[in-house]
Amino acid sequence: MKQGKFMADIEETEFKQITRTFFEKEWKESFDIFYKVSTDEEKKFIKFAEFDPKNYSRLDTIFKEKQTEVFYIKETDLYKYYQFNILKQLLLELAQGNLSAWEVFRMVYPVATRILQDYLEISASDSFLELLDEIPEVLAESLDPENVLFYELFAITQKENSIHAHCVNVGMYCLCLARELGMDRKDRAEICRGGMLADIGKKFIPREVMSMGSELTEENQQTIRRHPAFGKKTLKELRRYSKTVLHMAGEHHESFDGSGYPLKIVGKGINLAARICKIADVFNALTRKRSYGEVMTPKQALTFMKESLKGQFDPDLLNTFILYAGRQ
Ligand SMILES: [Fe+2]
Repeated sequence: MKQGKFMADIEETEFKQITRTFFEKEWKESFDIFYKVSTDEEKKFIKFAEFDPKNYSRLDTIFKEKQTEVFYIKETDLYKYYQFNILKQLLLELAQGNLSAWEVFRMVYPVATRILQDYLEISASDSFLELLDEIPEVLAESLDPENVLFYELFAITQKENSIHAHCVNVGMYCLCLARELGMDRKDRAEICRGGMLADIGKKFIPREVMSMGSELTEENQQTIRRHPAFGKKTLKELRRYSKTVLHMAGEHHESFDGSGYPLKIVGKGINLAARICKIADVFNALTRKRSYGEVMTPKQALTFMKESLKGQFDPDLLNTFILYAGRQ
């Protein structure tokens, strides 16, 4: 693989690099912010400000004066903040009950995307993925008594074009397809989890390669094609994910006709959950807003998948997804 700056390489200490866009999220608590001083012998992190979400303008002034956008945060602070504020608050609100599946989706979605964004962009440790643990169960449960119509789900998933949003969207579509297939709640949650985590191997792909869009060279394509193996390895080493989740990470780019990667598995030799994930992944890739290529409507994407990409998908699963998408 080419030498380059990898997302996972940025900082291996407890300090993680953040950028100004990090502060544009809706933070409710303060953080200490550090900058790095490097000498030949050592690196030092010096606290220079406290981020006060109620007084962002003060910090904005400091940023401008320093004329740099490279700052650091203690990862442990951030983890605790998610754990004891964001997630706790979310679960408390959900526990009050009487929320429609649509409302639950709308509340959970931004939390899941934020966690994955930090995992991928500030190169947070793999333990950050634990913060997502309860989310698939919450989503699987909310889908149990009520239907979430496809167009409602689609409306949530179209908000932004980013890798982290793609991860959550894939999890959502996987969950819905699993529900359509009559899977029980436990399996639905597992397939939702696997969908959300299937692309985490992209953390190990150089940023510049990930942002190339349609300009990818053959060499860069080969680099990107390593992400299923990277993702599966990461999840396996964490020793907390089911075989279903590992299969989804490792096989979500396999094609039913054997033309996929990395293993070129054929037909039902590909794990069922991974065949589901493949449909969710391609559908979201075709319909999300991108800086390159055309954005398709759901109908265009599904027609394209059925006609032009025909051999790539399990035909029965694709038909089930098409029926779900067309139901009013
Ligand atoms: Fe992928």
